[in-house]
Parts: sequence; structure tokens; C-alpha cells
Amino acid sequence: MSDYLLEVNNLTKRFPIKGGVFGKEVGAVYAVNNVSFKIPRGQTLGLVGESGCGKTTLGRSLLRLIEPTSGEVKFNGQNILELSGPEMRAMRRKMQIIFQDPYASLNPRMTIGDILREPMDIHGLFPGKEERKKRLYELIDQVQLQRDALNKYPHEFSGGQRQRVCIARALAVEPEFIVCDEPVSALDVSVQAQVVNLLMDLQKDLGLTYLFIAHDLKVVEYISSRVAVMYLGNMVEVAESSELYGHARHPYTKALFSAIPMPKPGLNKERIILQGDIPSPMNPPSGCHFHPRCWMATEECKKEYPAVTQQSESHYYRCFNPID
Ligand SMILES: Nc1ncnc2c1ncn2[C@@H]1O[C@H](COP(=O)(O)OP(=O)(O)OP(=O)(O)O)[C@@H](O)[C@H]1O
Ligand SMILES: [Mg+2]
Repeated sequence: MSDYLLEVNNLTKRFPIKGGVFGKEVGAVYAVNNVSFKIPRGQTLGLVGESGCGKTTLGRSLLRLIEPTSGEVKFNGQNILELSGPEMRAMRRKMQIIFQDPYASLNPRMTIGDILREPMDIHGLFPGKEERKKRLYELIDQVQLQRDALNKYPHEFSGGQRQRVCIARALAVEPEFIVCDEPVSALDVSVQAQVVNLLMDLQKDLGLTYLFIAHDLKVVEYISSRVAVMYLGNMVEVAESSELYGHARHPYTKALFSAIPMPKPGLNKERIILQGDIPSPMNPPSGCHFHPRCWMATEECKKEYPAVTQQSESHYYRCFNPID
């Protein structure tokens, strides 16, 4: 068995943009463009980048909730993009997703017990009455809710508790991999740490592998072994989190991470303020998409998209003029 649970090669998702009365294609967005990365079993890859850079599209494409346009998603060595509909449905038991909004993702008319039973029914798991009951208690205990929660409805819970229900629902089918799409962004700051710690404890206990999408770089650093940075559909740098904070090579990563306030004022790095707005993804700049905002850009950057430079086994970037 490979050490990598997930191996993604040249994954691309192109959304056609239709317009006019006849719905003719008037353009396209490459929301995810030729993205490659690997996640070792039992580890977390953080995924960051400005709004609209393609994080959600990437996360959903991995589970084929959005059908990728091209590329490869190898799960346990098997390219899941080649699976048939029924094969993929069976595979989804191993790959789950947790969404940002725990309010929108729970059916208000179902009890927590029913919400947790549903995925087990779909996959025919724990069918016996006693084993089902045992399993429900186990799930509730795992996410640290009270067992009487099973008979209650979502509206009886706080945001943090609802996110725990969503986590229990994902765990119900015994997944190996979970895409966490900004799972704490909608929660109060005081609750965020509890949910993040819960996810980390579960990872340790159950050997889970995560792709953890977040806006908050501090949260990402805390939970992730490695972090990937996206810009306009491209993965521009991937490295150990400590490495990205101290030794980012891509100017965009450097700028992104320079914005984080450090606990001691003396440690604060010089903040890099990026010029200009994020360009339209429908009409991205030529060459390296970041060049119009980059203070290191040269003529070369306007012409060609830089290939991947592999700095070490765990650190790579796409840039012609990396930072020393
Ligand atoms: N169904 C769709 N049809 C057309 N374009 C889409 C569709 N879904 C996403 N996009 C476009 O793809 C790009 C990436 O969107 P995505 O939601 O993946 O970004 P994101 O990084 O998750 O942003 P956020 O941080 O705001 O959640 C955006 O330009 C978006 O407008
Ligand atoms: Mg998103």
C-alpha cells in the first residue's frame, strides 16, 4: 500500500459560461487548473487562498460532487474518475465532506438520530437493531454530544454543536478521507478551537486523512502538516506549514502569510500589501496569473506559466523568480 492515501494529478475543472437567449458558450472559468498534490495517509493538507480561487471546487471535485473536466484522482492507488456511477457511490463511503454552514446542511425536520441513520441506511451499515443503537451512541460520544441529542432536532443546538452533528454524520460511514470545507468559519471564535481540536483528536483516534480548507491561516497552520496555496485556480506553492511561514518561495504566499499578526509585536514581519484586485477568473492574465500584482515579475512571467520547481520532497512551487 502506498504511503499516500490521495494522489491528484493535473486535475482541471472548467466551468463553461453560457450567455444570450440560445445559451451559447461565451467563455469559461478554469476554477481548478492542472492541480497536482498528494496527501499522506493520516495527515492533513491545508488549503488556502483568496475567495474564488477554487478551493471549494477542488474539494468537491475530489469526491466527484462536481465532475472534473480532466486529470486523475487516485484514492488508495485507484483513479476514482474512472469509476462507474454505482462504483463511485460505494466509494463515497470512504470519502466524506463537511461544509462550512452547519445550519444549511442539516435537515430541520429530521432528528439527529435520523440524520445519523440515513448514511448508514444508504450504505447498508450496522443493520441490526442493537448494533445500530450501539453505533449511534458511539458516534455521539465521539463528537462529545449528550446521548439525548439523538431525539432532538437541529434547531435545538448551537452552531458548534450542529457542526459536531455534521462531523458525526460524516463519520457514520467509517470514511478514510474527509474534505473539511471551512468547517469552522461560520462559528464563533471561542467555539472554533473546540471543533478544530475535536477534528484533530478524531484524526488521531481513527487514522483519518483531511483536506482542510480555510481562510484563517492560523487555524490552517495549527491543524495541517502541510499547506497548499491556490491563486486563480492554480496551486502555486505547497510546503510544510512552518516552512511556508518562514521560507515561502512564491511571492503570493509570502504576501498572504505576511498579513498574519504575530503574538509578540517584535516578531511581526513586514507586511506586504498586494497592489490591485484579483483578476477575473474568466479572463486571467497571461503567463503567471499573479504577475500583474507581483513585485518580482519580469518579462518571462508575462509570457509563460512557470513549471513546478521541486525544492524538496515536501516543498514545491511554481515561480520563475522565487524569493530567496
Ligand atoms: N457552478 C459554477 N459555474 C460557474 N462558475 C463557477 C461555479 N462554481 C464555482 N465557479 C467559479 O469558480 C471559481 C472558484 O470558485 P470556488 O467556490 O471554488 O472558490 P473558493 O476558493 O471556494 O472561494 P471561497 O473562499 O469564497 O469559498 C470562481 O470564479 C467561481 O465563480
Ligand atoms: Mg469555498
